[in-house]
Amino acid sequence: MDLRSDTVTLPTDEMYEAIKNAELGDDVYREDPTVNRLEELAAKTMGKEAALLVTSGTQANLTSVMAQTNRGDEVILESDAHIYHYEVGGISALAGVIPKLIKGKKGALEPGDVEKEIMPEEIHHPKTALVCIENTHNRAGGTVITPEQIEALSEVTRSKGVPLYMDGARIFNAAVALNRDVKDFTGHVDSLMFCLSKGLSAPVGSVMIGNTDFIEKARKIRKMLGGGMRQAGIIAAPGIVALEKMVDRLSEDHTNARALAEGLSKFESIKIDLETVQTNIVKFEVQGLKVSPEEFFSMLRERGVQILGYEGNVMRMVTHRHITREDINYTLEVFEDVIRKI
Ligand SMILES: Cc1ncc(COP(=O)(O)O)c(C=O)c1O
Repeated sequence: MDLRSDTVTLPTDEMYEAIKNAELGDDVYREDPTVNRLEELAAKTMGKEAALLVTSGTQANLTSVMAQTNRGDEVILESDAHIYHYEVGGISALAGVIPKLIKGKKGALEPGDVEKEIMPEEIHHPKTALVCIENTHNRAGGTVITPEQIEALSEVTRSKGVPLYMDGARIFNAAVALNRDVKDFTGHVDSLMFCLSKGLSAPVGSVMIGNTDFIEKARKIRKMLGGGMRQAGIIAAPGIVALEKMVDRLSEDHTNARALAEGLSKFESIKIDLETVQTNIVKFEVQGLKVSPEEFFSMLRERGVQILGYEGNVMRMVTHRHITREDINYTLEVFEDVIRKI
């Protein structure tokens, strides 16, 4: 039972079929019809002009930052942003930008805080070139930033002339959780990315979205980063299935995450804020643990349950297509046994 991440999902039978039958060409020459179809579909779904298939969420974020900044610029991020914590410092090492971190509320940046932190035009300051949000917010526990919160933030960024970018790796989880059209979220940002290879079950790939100028610039940067792929229709074909068929079922993952969180909240030694459990991520802390987190994980693993640590005794579990309600019940039983033992 692999609850470490929704990235562990395997392709569906329909995806394997789509891979087998995909019409292919050389995508660097823009001649892969399946890639072109995915990019058109993704742009249309998000209500923007253009899209670009990239290899991963990390490559999408880096390419997006590079396409919207110059070296020495500053980028505003929420202090728990995936871009800051888990992307190997790429935006500094490769894009040459300085991250400015602002603590958000449940992962959401407050417009007033951002307004105060955007650098005025002055000879000493780096230019604040980009504001990034993350939706859903991974380290905040899969929390949703509502379209209204994004709109309020976009009023500030627009008035200051700074583009707003969304790491929407799990934006469909946000849309499904609020039962809103994904365009309600994307309409307020200048550009975004989303992942095909997380809860949507496609094996590889993320998609960058924005206006045509941004995507054309990104296409060249993607090539520079070694992400220009050839018969990438192999990747795009399951991506199309992901977009067309796999979005609505995310609500099952959310229901399972809720059941898991509610079950965990009954253990005295587990601290969990149920308000943060809005999508498929369950973040919690095991208090008074008498073994190291690694030993705790290994005891769970011996019983067939794999989970992931954030730091200290803070941990997470992520529900996805391969986790059933029975698996949730079993996981709770295993937790009970292991916690009792230690
Ligand atoms: C919010 C967020 N952004 C970006 C990424 C990076 O995606 P990838 O693993 O495809 O590089 C992840 C991966 O988990 C993520 O959770």
